[in-house]
Amino acid sequence: MSTPNNGAISRSTGASALSLYHLLDPEVLGNPYPLFCRLRTEDPVHWDVFLHTWVVTRYIDVLEVLHSFSAERTHTPEKLKSMGLSEMSPIAQLMVKQMLFMDPPSHTRLRSLASQAFSPARVAVLRSHIREIVNRLLDAVQKEGQLDIIRDLAEPLPAIVTAEMLGVPLSDRLQLKAWSADFAEMLGNFQHNPEHAPRMLRAVQDMTVYFRDTIRRQKDHPQEGLVHSLMTAEVDGDRLTEEEVVANSIVTMVGGQETTTNLIGNGVLTMLRNPGEVKRLQEDLSLIPSAVEEMLRYESPSQHTGRLAAQDVELGGRLIKKGQAVMAVMAAANRDPERFSDPDRFDVARTDNRHLAFGYAAHFCFGAALARVEAQEVFGAIIRRLPGLELQPSPLIWRNNLGLRGLTALPIRFQASHAAC
Ligand code: HEM
Repeated sequence: MSTPNNGAISRSTGASALSLYHLLDPEVLGNPYPLFCRLRTEDPVHWDVFLHTWVVTRYIDVLEVLHSFSAERTHTPEKLKSMGLSEMSPIAQLMVKQMLFMDPPSHTRLRSLASQAFSPARVAVLRSHIREIVNRLLDAVQKEGQLDIIRDLAEPLPAIVTAEMLGVPLSDRLQLKAWSADFAEMLGNFQHNPEHAPRMLRAVQDMTVYFRDTIRRQKDHPQEGLVHSLMTAEVDGDRLTEEEVVANSIVTMVGGQETTTNLIGNGVLTMLRNPGEVKRLQEDLSLIPSAVEEMLRYESPSQHTGRLAAQDVELGGRLIKKGQAVMAVMAAANRDPERFSDPDRFDVARTDNRHLAFGYAAHFCFGAALARVEAQEVFGAIIRRLPGLELQPSPLIWRNNLGLRGLTALPIRFQASHAAC
């Protein structure tokens, strides 16, 4: 949460100090891969003096961080007070109850209770329903011969699926989306922005009230979905508290929206930049699942995550001291030539593609199966229904989020005359 001096950032990363803070430069945010390459080759386990954190970029080291370092990284209310940020305490109090920020045994307990509520079998059942939603969204715009991928498809699909998955009224989806965007802005950014703090606080308070009300309502009128499943999940007589149900409904709601929106947007942009790969997909639709994995690797929606060193530990020849912060940059690891051949090439048929876009080990993404189904259905429909896909001329604007990589808009054109389903 340090605040680097934005004005001091050089336009080029070439001769300037090595730091992840260059991501604050819109040019670097638009294409962070040369910076990641520089970090990986010049100093793969790098002490970032500006951010006061270790930055880890090689595949093998990112695996180690995600496997062995502590996820308990939210500041305690006392620590926030010492940093002059005591007004942020309600956010910290919520986050310490979310599985994303826990170590075993608390994490193991929470995750196993939550897994009962959200099984791969339930996701498989959802596939045909997700296909219907995608087709409905495309029906609404197909005659036009143009659409904004973000506004018309990548935002509404996860918003609808998330409301249905949680078991809350579909009409609440715009509100859930707005809260999720606020929370994601905080999760994805490492600079503290005092102007945004009041909005974050209000979002956290409002979401908490919303999920508490939902729980009370569902005690009398159960609704199929994650909230009710979390309320009733039980392992050896152990149940989640109301606070835990609220905190983990929120992390699932946020986790399921921004990332999936970004996967769809980043994936379409990558296809438009690689017409040869689109042709391969048109000729062989069975490549869609592997194309989605390649999109996740090539333009990872969640670019990095944080951990703490639980004790003094050596990594890549550097000594990381107990309590120091570490950023594991999955997006850099996913372009590591020591792990992936020709890593800057987008190859929809890539094999041996064990990317880290969903993380690794205990915190491996809880919703990966759902995100994969959503993306496979979207890209299958795009390839079948939108021939002659091309970018409309307009500047690409990346979200002002350093960790959750995605576009604000992506206007495209296609041949409306071939628009029948
Ligand atoms: C393309 C879409 C997605 C991407 C790229 C993504 C990425 C990730 C990553 C990298 C992590 C691990 C973070 C860490 O280790 O610090 C994670 C965890 C998580 N994700 Fe996702 N996610 C996606 C979709 C979803 C969906 C659809 C849901 C909800 C249904 C979801 C819910 C979660 C939750 C609850 C965790 C925490 C798991 C834990 O701590 O045990 N994610 N996700």
